[in-house]
Amino acid sequence: MIARERERPQGNRESGARAAGRIRIVEVGPRDGLQNEKAVVPTELKVAFVDALSETGVDEIEVSSFVSPEWVPQLADAEAVFRAIRRSPQVVYSALVPNAKGLERALAAEAQKVAVFTAASETFNRKNVNASIAESLERFGPVVAGAGGAGVVVRAYVSTAFHCPYEGPVAPEKVRDVMLRLLELGVDEISIADTIGKASPPEVRGLLELLLHDVGPALLALHFHDTYGMAIANALTAWEEFGVATFDAAAGGLGGCPFAKGATGNVATEDLVYALRASGAEVGVDPSAVAEAARALSGALGRPLASRIGALPV
Ligand code: HMG
Ligand code: MG
Repeated sequence: MIARERERPQGNRESGARAAGRIRIVEVGPRDGLQNEKAVVPTELKVAFVDALSETGVDEIEVSSFVSPEWVPQLADAEAVFRAIRRSPQVVYSALVPNAKGLERALAAEAQKVAVFTAASETFNRKNVNASIAESLERFGPVVAGAGGAGVVVRAYVSTAFHCPYEGPVAPEKVRDVMLRLLELGVDEISIADTIGKASPPEVRGLLELLLHDVGPALLALHFHDTYGMAIANALTAWEEFGVATFDAAAGGLGGCPFAKGATGNVATEDLVYALRASGAEVGVDPSAVAEAARALSGALGRPLASRIGALPV
């Protein structure tokens, strides 16, 4: 087992904007990007995608999901992908897990980090994992304990943190409640997710103002889907005004959740990196290399990518 030291960022609010140091990019294309694709992507193409992403400077790659293969057939080859990738010592290779069975599979595959996931709205959570929010939190107890015992870091997603495809706008207090319960369970990082890509900078401001009473920005990641083209404005707001410095993104703007009606892809990694750098952030990722990694996949997907930089002539 490749272990990574468990780290718990400080829980006090940092005043002022812009976190010191560089931006961390969590590349979720191989997981969030592919899970919604109708055409089955061959395992070797997924492996080549992860290997190409490993050379781009991203800090972390969410390689696949150890969820039920009945629910997400596209990622049924998670073990095979983990087995075949070439690991870079500069990159953390993580996996999505819904329960103890998922953790068991992730540990056997030598994932260095696992991500559990729940939501701030009941209807979405039920459709996504067939459980209430409270039931899904109960499932995480053994996952967090088992991961901790194996020296594996745990991230937790809070989906539908701004809007739910079934219930509409979500109150920031609901997100705070779920975040606090996840922290009590002992997770190391919280990724706040705009599952259907509908949030706007004022909503990001409103939520972060509330959450940062309880945690420091280093404990948070932001996960913006880009349905309404707002993801970059949202990320810049979070970084410039609140100092959040970890962002999830998918090469080529791939992605979407099969259980969230109307959700399109994550913000394109290459476009996000460009925007953050152009705004003065230090980001050690090569946007052209990310676009190239996504381009190599687009043939298998049978559709153009949703990335500005990826659409530039090469
Ligand atoms: P269920 O049907 O209620 O599960 O699904 P169950 O516990 O009753 O088990 C049913 C069968 O599944 C059993 O097999 C289990 O062994 C098996 P059987 O006895 O019938 O042969 N099973 C598993 N198999 C493999 N790996 C596992 C596993 N667990 C049970 N880990 C469950 C409950 C949670 C499993 C299911 O609902 C599920 O897998 N859901 C995953 C949905 C998903 O992947 N959604 C997309 C990811 S979340 C997302 O995209 C949002 C995010 O990007 C942030 C954002 O944007 O908001 C993260
Ligand atoms: Mg997502």
